[in-house]
Amino acid sequence: MKKALISGVSGQDGSYLAEFLLSKGYEVHGIIRRASTFNTARIDHIIVDEQHEPGAKFFFHYGDMNDATSLISLIQKILPDEIFNLAAQSHVRVSFDTPEYTSNADALGTLRMLEAIRLLGLSDKIKFYQASTSELYGRVQETPQSEKTPFYPRSPYGVAKLYAHWVTKNYREAYNLFACNGILFNHESGRRGETFVTRKITRGIAQIKAGLEKKIYLGNLDAKRDWGYAPEYVESMWQMLQQEKADDYVIATGQTHSIKEFLEEAFKYTGLGDWQKYVEVDPRYFRPSEVDVLIGDSSKAKEELNWNPKIEFKDLVKIMIDADLRKLGIEVPGEGDKILQEKFPNKWWQKD
Ligand code: NAP
Ligand code: GDD
Repeated sequence: MKKALISGVSGQDGSYLAEFLLSKGYEVHGIIRRASTFNTARIDHIIVDEQHEPGAKFFFHYGDMNDATSLISLIQKILPDEIFNLAAQSHVRVSFDTPEYTSNADALGTLRMLEAIRLLGLSDKIKFYQASTSELYGRVQETPQSEKTPFYPRSPYGVAKLYAHWVTKNYREAYNLFACNGILFNHESGRRGETFVTRKITRGIAQIKAGLEKKIYLGNLDAKRDWGYAPEYVESMWQMLQQEKADDYVIATGQTHSIKEFLEEAFKYTGLGDWQKYVEVDPRYFRPSEVDVLIGDSSKAKEELNWNPKIEFKDLVKIMIDADLRKLGIEVPGEGDKILQEKFPNKWWQKD
């Protein structure tokens, strides 16, 4: 049985990845950090027993990307075959407020993980996945963006992830570590963090429908993103580590849409009508430097990993709205559910 260690297992991607690996028969270990409130809502349905019951296949451990000793001792104890480094302060706007913390967790945290592998003498035994990002392209140097496009990050988050990207590549070249960067474009789901724009909109609509809120307050509505569906994206992480050779891959849908288009689709689907009646722009959500438009070219992943996303923009909006309405006990239009049933008859995740 293969063993995987996932940092950031309580996040959107970590929770899906844990379920995906469990469906492949892995023994899965996840790192969570101590918080003053419960932070395991996304993985509660797969947590078996933190005391390592015989036969259990999912375990979680306390650790932190800012604490090298916790990473070293976990890797030494678990001896994983694969490490997926997904932990990060992942909010771009927040990174302008906490640049030092973001750099510590996202840049140096990645270095700590790589050093732990090297110092334990495990560079030839462990495969390593780094959660790289389309934020590296920032002020884009060409369109669409591929593995060959030069980087130009536009936030402390982007800059920290640039370091993590290059240090991962460096450990691959210097120590022959099987290390891959997945350059993932935005991907969303019903598990998306509630302060990212797509989820803020779909959750806001559900609250308006439930009579709990009257308005949604947003920032720059003209930005455009290449949005995909998270479960499909975590599959690519695993696929990268199953290749003969470690490499870097862009994962994207190849389509781009603005926040306004997202609002239009979402309000149309729920029958609330004109989104402009419900949305106000609040400059608090503007960023000191913005990434205006991202669109990815994932031909390399298509060719080498056979990775082909099935969920398009309009599907994604419906899936996310259905999930948020259901959470508030409101009647669900159900087109999102139908899309999921049709496109993933054997889906490996238990809830959206
Ligand atoms: P997310 O939902 O924000 O999850 C981040 C995870 O990292 C959470 O489990 C969080 O723990 C954990 N974490 C944060 N700081 C930590 C620290 N100092 N030590 C240990 N754990 C820490 O992010 P996501 O959307 O799943 O994204 C996963 C990764 O992919 C991130 O590295 C992100 O930057 C990157 N990425 C995401 C996208 C995207 O569109 N989603 C695209 C490209 C790259 P808590 O639950 O306790 O907060
Ligand atoms: N969060 C947020 N909140 N964004 C808003 C809002 C708002 O109220 N209003 C407009 N936006 C705009 C942002 O200015 C940005 O241009 C766009 O919506 C997307 O913002 P986010 O959803 O926060 O995502 P992101 O693109 O900045 O970052 C996400 O994707 C990256 C990959 O490109 C995160 O998941 C990063 O961790 C990830 O690396």
